[in-house]
Amino acid sequence: MNITRIALAATLALALPLAAQAQQAKLKVGLMLPATGTFAALGTAIENGFRLYVTEQGGKLGGREIEFVKVDDESDPSKATDNVNKLVKRDNVDVIVGTVHSGVAMAMARVARETGTILIVPNAGAQAVTGPMCAPNIFRSSFSNWQPGYAAGEVVGKRGHKRVVTITWKYAAGDESVAGFKEGFAKATNGQGQVLKELSLPFPNVEFQALLTEIASLKPDAVYTFFAGGGAVKFVKDYAAAGLKKNIPLFGAGFLTDGTLEGQGADAEGLMTTLHYADGLDFPKDKAFRLAYAKTFKLQPDVYAVQGYDAAQILAIGLTATKGDVKDKAAFAAAVRKATIDSPRGKFTIGKNHDPVQDFYLRQVVGKENKPMGVAVKGLADPGRGCNM
Ligand code: PHB
Repeated sequence: MNITRIALAATLALALPLAAQAQQAKLKVGLMLPATGTFAALGTAIENGFRLYVTEQGGKLGGREIEFVKVDDESDPSKATDNVNKLVKRDNVDVIVGTVHSGVAMAMARVARETGTILIVPNAGAQAVTGPMCAPNIFRSSFSNWQPGYAAGEVVGKRGHKRVVTITWKYAAGDESVAGFKEGFAKATNGQGQVLKELSLPFPNVEFQALLTEIASLKPDAVYTFFAGGGAVKFVKDYAAAGLKKNIPLFGAGFLTDGTLEGQGADAEGLMTTLHYADGLDFPKDKAFRLAYAKTFKLQPDVYAVQGYDAAQILAIGLTATKGDVKDKAAFAAAVRKATIDSPRGKFTIGKNHDPVQDFYLRQVVGKENKPMGVAVKGLADPGRGCNM
């Protein structure tokens, strides 16, 4: 080898790693969502929304091509730690996105805290995730269970209902949704409202009959409920079949009627719920999103699709600020905290505890849509109780 060749080889050896750096490796996103069970459709909608945003960005966020690794979490908390460890330790994902079920999300948050992996929660409202377990690397694109519950409590109280029964699944999401409801209801009734009974059954059971009989005998002014997915479809149908719908108004966190109206049919007509999304909001972003979603997936989007889309937006904001480096967690968090996210739900920001600060709509079911009736609570922030960050 002559001198020029040696020099050339040396130059190449130096230059190659630089070129390789400029051409960053793909960013591995671990999607941990339910693909089976009562929340399966919710998992699909979240994934669709997430993928739609990535596709709109040409397959790259913060300059890095996105690669997906998927795990079906089955909405089963007992398998959650193993499932999230598969993504973080076996597949070496850079970011985790998930999930729907609060109990599973708490296990994910524990692993995210231990390993420092960025976690974006695209649904589960567990208070702990943005409360005592809050961390600079944990974000939520959805809501805390308290938020829609609180908004519904204000609505029910302001409508003059005084004696209420609540019914839900006995797990973090149900308990916290009812706690939020009670707070809003107490505020709107100046402490005069009464919760006659808090009924519940284990997740994901749908044997509602005995509980519906109890509601009939208690004769409350109104019922508040948290159910979602397949369980919500069955509850709404059973509530009507038991003859309760015509006598006792049923209110819910909006999950009761979101992504479920095909299955519920006429039994859902007229139901009123509170949520951070509705069908037919008058935002250009929403119109564009709904058109693109329907075209791509041959389906109408729902709140879960929006939350998936916005989880990808949050990831994009963080990665753009760090030029694709997930290790620069301080810069990632700083960018997300100061962003205004242009969501199909309307613009929102991320609060100090990394939960969305957002408007809650009162919606009413008309045909196959949750029509917005107005804003129930504007700019509602989760109290972030127990979060020290
Ligand atoms: C939850 O477990 O936090 C949860 C599940 C389904 C929903 C909303 C919240 O639609």
